[in-house]
Amino acid sequence: EKESLNKDEKLLAVCTLLHNEVKHYDWVGFYFAVPEERVLHLGPYSGPETDHTVIPYGKGICGQVAVSNETFLVEDVMAQDNYIACSMTVKSEIVVPLFVNGANIGQIDIDSNTINAFTADDQKFLEELNEEVAKLYN
Ligand code: SME
Repeated sequence: EKESLNKDEKLLAVCTLLHNEVKHYDWVGFYFAVPEERVLHLGPYSGPETDHTVIPYGKGICGQVAVSNETFLVEDVMAQDNYIACSMTVKSEIVVPLFVNGANIGQIDIDSNTINAFTADDQKFLEELNEEVAKLYN
């Protein structure tokens, strides 16, 4: 009998699929909020290993989204002063919050090695994706 995937396995499958199938997605991962500590913890991801497994609220693009509750589309990471570099090859980034019952519980973070790689279509797609991901938590 086939076992069903647990939540982390499903999130990893999403990351791997996006990383493998979308040409300009060079790192795809989920971070999850730990509100009592005001930090984000790295969850499932696909791409190069990162040192940034814990990110304080407010720090970097991810930490800013934890506070703003809004998608952050970064055309050129070098132009950001509050940015955490995971890899010197990364040129642009998008971070989309994940809402469950109105609460911002985390985010999907995507890096690209191409400058200005993300469009409004990526934003719309990823916001819709996160609405599907949120269903795993209900
Ligand atoms: N660049 C992110 C940190 C996470 S790494 O991209 C995987 C940031 O500035 O928050």
